[in-house]
Amino acid sequence: MSDNKLVIFDTTMRDGEQSPGASMSKDEKIRIGKTLERLGVDVMEAGFAIASKGDFEAVHAVASVVKESTVCSLARANFKDIEAAAQALEPAPRKRIHTFIATSPIHMQYKLKMQPDQVVEQAVAAVKHARKFTDDVEFSAEDAGRSDPDFLCRVFEAVIAAGAGTINIPDTVGYALPNEFGGLIADIIARTPNSDQAVFSVHCHNDLGLAVANSLAAVQCGARQVECTVNGLGERAGNASLEEIVMAMRVRHDLMELETGIDTTQIVPASRLVSSITGFPVQPNKAIVGANAFAHEAGIHQDGVLKHRETYEIMSAEDVGWSANRMVLGKHSGRAAFKSRLEELGIMPAEDNAFADAFVRFKALADKKHDIFDEDLVALMTGDNSDAGEVMFKLTDLEVSSKLGVSPTASVGLSVMGEETHIQAEGDGPVDATFKAIEKIAQSGCETSLYNVNAITSGTESQGEVTVRLERAGRIVNGVGADTDIVVASARAYLHALNQMMKPQVRQHPQSSNP
Ligand code: KIV
Ligand code: ZN
Repeated sequence: MSDNKLVIFDTTMRDGEQSPGASMSKDEKIRIGKTLERLGVDVMEAGFAIASKGDFEAVHAVASVVKESTVCSLARANFKDIEAAAQALEPAPRKRIHTFIATSPIHMQYKLKMQPDQVVEQAVAAVKHARKFTDDVEFSAEDAGRSDPDFLCRVFEAVIAAGAGTINIPDTVGYALPNEFGGLIADIIARTPNSDQAVFSVHCHNDLGLAVANSLAAVQCGARQVECTVNGLGERAGNASLEEIVMAMRVRHDLMELETGIDTTQIVPASRLVSSITGFPVQPNKAIVGANAFAHEAGIHQDGVLKHRETYEIMSAEDVGWSANRMVLGKHSGRAAFKSRLEELGIMPAEDNAFADAFVRFKALADKKHDIFDEDLVALMTGDNSDAGEVMFKLTDLEVSSKLGVSPTASVGLSVMGEETHIQAEGDGPVDATFKAIEKIAQSGCETSLYNVNAITSGTESQGEVTVRLERAGRIVNGVGADTDIVVASARAYLHALNQMMKPQVRQHPQSSNP
């Protein structure tokens, strides 16, 4: 690795997937994996292979399609986890096993119920075992931010000697402050005798809103890998956001003379894809990828930007993928143009019949909407639409009536496991009436805990993208749906969430139990 390289390790599909309701199907992970590869991430953590059969298959599927980036699976520091990771990663041309164990006094005493000596022994055994399957092994000291630095140096020296090539120092609970965290990294690198034989990495959580600041402080103190996620998705308040790290490295190259291999023009498409798949909307004022990130409201700013862009802008919208690729499709676009755009966006379905279905939906959309932008295509390929064929509930009909002063009614047709049912319901609004009608049929007992509508593009003919979050017995799922008619989009989003809720989900949380 060259001296001025900063390794970008994306964990959208693992830590990002730990956000409540953000679970991703195998096909969705394939799409995200291809997008991350186009973005140019060095390593992508595709999941936690031992967590469930579905997780194993998703890691295996990503490992089968991604050729350029290294594909990684998380594994606790035990042989069973490591073997599952190795098996899932088998098809990948470049593979990494990422094994971890907690090192803070509080985790060792209460969660692991292990003595520090046992933790060192277990970490070394795990790394040695992982090295039997690949030369590329990463070791993480979970809750390093609250661990004793002397103990960290001892663990790291031992695991580097056992064959770990990357040493990750997570601030698991998002507790650190930038100066303190940078100091910890510098101290550990200086005091671990064999630190020159490994790449030091950081993995910061955003509980105090400091994940990016802490990661950059660590880079300035010697870290050469940053773990991050698209849109800052991740456990609780999320992880350091990939787009913010990458753009800070680029814009402040004067202070941080390191290179990432990221093609920044792919940042916005990646952000949109992850947002539509997970149903986590991007807040308008989010740095880099928020809708307002390059919008100037104040007249004095607009005037300045028109005269000389750099008066108020430190980077250009095009550099991060806004309005690049603005090739517009429409009613007259044929199969070939549609196919080539899907391929360029990395959202081309693998099966011919899925492509044929998508083309029918594209034509239907083009009848209602004059210009079809990339954002419309991403929405067309995600959410309820992409599940066609394999789901319990499908929308077959929807009619709503809404009149000033009268309660709206919705008449909904659903195919339930292939059987057609129609029902009517009243509600406080057309969307509420539609959800009530669906519930009368489904009887799911789910609570709707989030309902959100976003315009995908500008103008009143824009598709509305709706996110619905359902909760039942502690389980949370998100659904997304898009249509030029927001009641239809809402019904699709509700059904998308409901269909996910119906799938059995038995999976382990990586950080919840003993090795
Ligand atoms: O936050 C954390 O400590 C993690 C580890 C498993 C790397 O996600
Ligand atoms: Zn984490």
